[in-house]
Amino acid sequence: MKWYNSIKIKLLGFFLFISIIFLITLIITFFYMRENQFKENAMKETSLATSKILNYLQTEQANAELLVSILSSMTSQSLEHAINDENFIPSLLSTHLRTDLNLQSAGIWFEPYSVEKSKKDFLLFYNKNTDNTFKKVNQYIKKSTMNYRDMTFYTAGENLKKGEVFWTNVYIDPVTKIRMITVDSPIYRGNTFIGLASLDIAIKEHTKKLWSNLSLKEMYLIFIDREGTFIGKSSSINRFTTDNNIYHMKSSEMGALIKTIEPSLKKHKHKTDHDNNIKKEIYTIDNDPVLGGTSIVATYYFPHTQWNIIIGILEDKVMIQQNETFKNVILIVIFLTLLATLLGYLILQHIFVKPIESINEQLKDNINQDGLHHKLLTCNDNGEIGSLVENLNTRTQALKAAKTSEAKEIEKRIQNEKLLVQQSKMAAMGEMMDAVAHQWKQPLNALSMYSEIIKNDFDDGNVDKAYITQFSIDIQTQIDHMVNTLDEFRTFFRPNKENQEFTLPDVLHSVLLLTKDDLLKNRITVNIEQEDALTINGSENEFKHLILNIINNAKDAFNEKSIEKRELKIRIIQDNEGNRLEIEDNAGGIPKEIIKDIFKANVTSKEEGKGTGIGLYMSTQIATKHHATLSVKNQNNGACFIVKFNA
Ligand SMILES: Nc1ncnc2c1ncn2[C@@H]1O[C@H](COP(=O)(O)OP(=O)(O)O)[C@@H](O)[C@H]1O
Ligand SMILES: [Mg+2]
Repeated sequence: MKWYNSIKIKLLGFFLFISIIFLITLIITFFYMRENQFKENAMKETSLATSKILNYLQTEQANAELLVSILSSMTSQSLEHAINDENFIPSLLSTHLRTDLNLQSAGIWFEPYSVEKSKKDFLLFYNKNTDNTFKKVNQYIKKSTMNYRDMTFYTAGENLKKGEVFWTNVYIDPVTKIRMITVDSPIYRGNTFIGLASLDIAIKEHTKKLWSNLSLKEMYLIFIDREGTFIGKSSSINRFTTDNNIYHMKSSEMGALIKTIEPSLKKHKHKTDHDNNIKKEIYTIDNDPVLGGTSIVATYYFPHTQWNIIIGILEDKVMIQQNETFKNVILIVIFLTLLATLLGYLILQHIFVKPIESINEQLKDNINQDGLHHKLLTCNDNGEIGSLVENLNTRTQALKAAKTSEAKEIEKRIQNEKLLVQQSKMAAMGEMMDAVAHQWKQPLNALSMYSEIIKNDFDDGNVDKAYITQFSIDIQTQIDHMVNTLDEFRTFFRPNKENQEFTLPDVLHSVLLLTKDDLLKNRITVNIEQEDALTINGSENEFKHLILNIINNAKDAFNEKSIEKRELKIRIIQDNEGNRLEIEDNAGGIPKEIIKDIFKANVTSKEEGKGTGIGLYMSTQIATKHHATLSVKNQNNGACFIVKFNA
């Protein structure tokens, strides 16, 4: 048996195949889940990661709006105070210090002649000192080349309703040259717009705080106003931009990013949205130019300020935990699968392979002991294997029984054979006795005659010495004849144990001598047509039986058919066609119906008491012993028996 034909190997292969299929399915499922479920999770994670920034911005925005509203409403309520009390506004402003607001300066700006009838322009401007207190700047207006009412913050403020707030774009303060954003709230006297309050937030300070809320590794942040001008950007984005507007970034390099986020930015641009909720959109970008890999980008739009924040995070960073989990799950599953495979293999090996191996061993042992499989097999299995063993055992028992009965049969046959031999011998003896009786009848008659004659001759006086001499010779001749016959008869039935060489003519003549008178009485002439000196090795006496059987059968046939001219032709031939003995009669031949069966035992056409059907059967056995075959054919109006010797 080749190793790969073993059930063990097949089982192992089967289990490995199943596990591999299982693992492949699992891995595909996991990758599919990663692509879908995990990505969704990653986006949620991104939102969470940026929530701090959003909180900070929203709080700051709310604080600024609250402060500017207080400033405008207090000014409108207590205009006198505001103008004349040096500490009124600074004390209001100092409340911002309790918040995170990065206030740089603040101002109250009035409509022409609305405060002082003599003065067209009137304003109050406060700047933050290094000790975080605010101080009125008297010279502010002189430093400016532009009228404040022509500036964007003021023109936008004019259109605001009471209590409303407006955030400007990023601009560079003409006096301080600092990048700023201003937040306005209008001041009304009754229903008349008389000016506005403004707070200036310094961007540099402002964004500094932003970055502190963010770990900027593998991440970037872009913070723009409604025009797309950068309020702030993380340093990782710097190498892609020389300009201050996001739409003018080196777009060939930033193409993928801008292309993805631009539609959502444009959607909000210049849109007056009174819904105060932050709008959020999240995308994945396959080849993020800033991070150099797949990134998750979230854009947030603040309706009030109309700012946008764009945050990009490397997907792998967000998914690091999930990747780790994913890896662990796969490792655990591989381990469990292998364990299950091994266990499954061991269990099946125990319940399946082991019984088979044990049966195989038992069978081998059986053969070793006696070359047969007569021992019964044992097996503990209750399933198919057990039933297989049971059936094998049943079969073994059946074979055993068959073998025993076969042996009995053979024994019986041998016994029958012996009986047949005995019977045939008895039959032959009977026939021989017949022949001897005939053989003796004539000399006995002659002796009886001689005893009659001698008495008469003596009375007549004819008995003299010469007469007695002749008489003695005649009697001796008759007695010799009888003794000869007796001797032949004795040797005929004496079994000669050892094989010897003998010539066929000798055997033939010996048989003819015994049967001479019997043949004569039955008017059968024997004609020896050819008599080659054929030598055979075997039992002479047995061969005499064979010839005697054939001659006796012919005699029976002649008598049965009452044939007139009875002739036996005998030939002993040694030629090219082979060595053979032929005995041919003219008694009409063997009836067709029985010709193919006559060599079988107990086949006879003769009536009960006359025939036994054994003669030809025994003759066949004798022929076989002498390496010859006995056959018959009907020819010349008779049967011709041929004993043919093998070359
Ligand atoms: N020479 C023969 N001519 C015709 N029939 C023969 C001859 N020899 C044998 N048979 C037939 O073959 C039969 C079988 O012969 P055999 O075996 O010697 O048994 P049995 O002589 O006791 O019948 C005979 O009964 C006879 O019918
Ligand atoms: Mg016979």
